[in-house]
Parts: sequence; C-alpha cells; structure tokens
Amino acid sequence: MSLGYEEINTPIIIGCDHAAYQLKAVIVDFLKDLSLEVEDVGTHGPASVNYADYGKTVATAVASGKNQRGILICGTGLGMSMVANRFKGVRAALCSESFSVRMSRQHNDSNILVLGARVIGDALAVDLVKTWLETPFEGGRHLDRLKTLDAIGCQGA
Ligand code: RB5
Repeated sequence: MSLGYEEINTPIIIGCDHAAYQLKAVIVDFLKDLSLEVEDVGTHGPASVNYADYGKTVATAVASGKNQRGILICGTGLGMSMVANRFKGVRAALCSESFSVRMSRQHNDSNILVLGARVIGDALAVDLVKTWLETPFEGGRHLDRLKTLDAIGCQGA
C-alpha cells in the first residue's frame, strides 16, 4: 500500500489495553475504510489487562521491521509510550494535538503513534491518525539526529 510519499508493505499493527479497546475499534475501522491493511493484536474487550504486554508486542514488531508502522493506545498513552520507546529503532510519539503529530513525522520519523483514549475524543484521535499517515519525514538534517538516537540504544543494566 502507498501513503503517497512512502511504500508501506506491511500491515499497520495496532494494540491497546482495556481503557482503549473502543477507540481502537474506531481507528481500525478508519484504517480499513482507507483500504489499509491492519494487524490488530488486541485487547478486544473491557477485561483488565497489562498495557506493557500489548505495547511490547507492537514495539517488537516495529523494531524488527515486521511492521513498518504501529499505533498504541492506553488510557493516557503514557504507559504505552514508556514501553515502546525502550525498543531500539522505535520512535513512539505520544500526541494529543495535530502540531505534535505533524512534527513527529517531519522531524522525528515517528514509527509508532501513541494516543490516550481518556485524554482525547474519538474524532480527534481519528484526525490525528490521518495527519500521522499523511505527513512525510523531511529527512535531511533530521536523519543525522535519528542516527544519533539509534546509536544511543538502551543504556543501563
Ligand atoms: C489503565 O487503568 C491505565 O493505567 C492505562 O490505560 C494507562 O493509562 C497507563 O499508562
């Protein structure tokens, strides 16, 4: 599939916890309406789960290249972003407004979008996903910065 500026040959992988399964369903429908391939790794209902398990599944897939792009949603987005950014090569952006979403693509080449289902409404969330998909990475000077980011890896024991 093509986003217009980038070939995406892998499904967009999406995961959430119990706080966000309803918003995830809305976003999955939106992506499918755009004829984008989606890999939905759950959760699918209100039963309490650990966001870290779902964040790890999505971040592992993006870090390995199995999926080029991922979306993670929990109540605030905080837990999911903390998990995802522990994975080398993952650039997860927690956003609740469009300026940051656009910048996360243009300057940071974000490969995971993180949303807080208890922070923003469905319509805004869908709009942010749309902006995230439509905005290309600018490359240039930002590429060197990403290389430095990748070289840092994960520090500490
Ligand atoms: C679940 O209650 C909540 O803690 C979780 O969705 C998320 O907000 C964690 O960061």
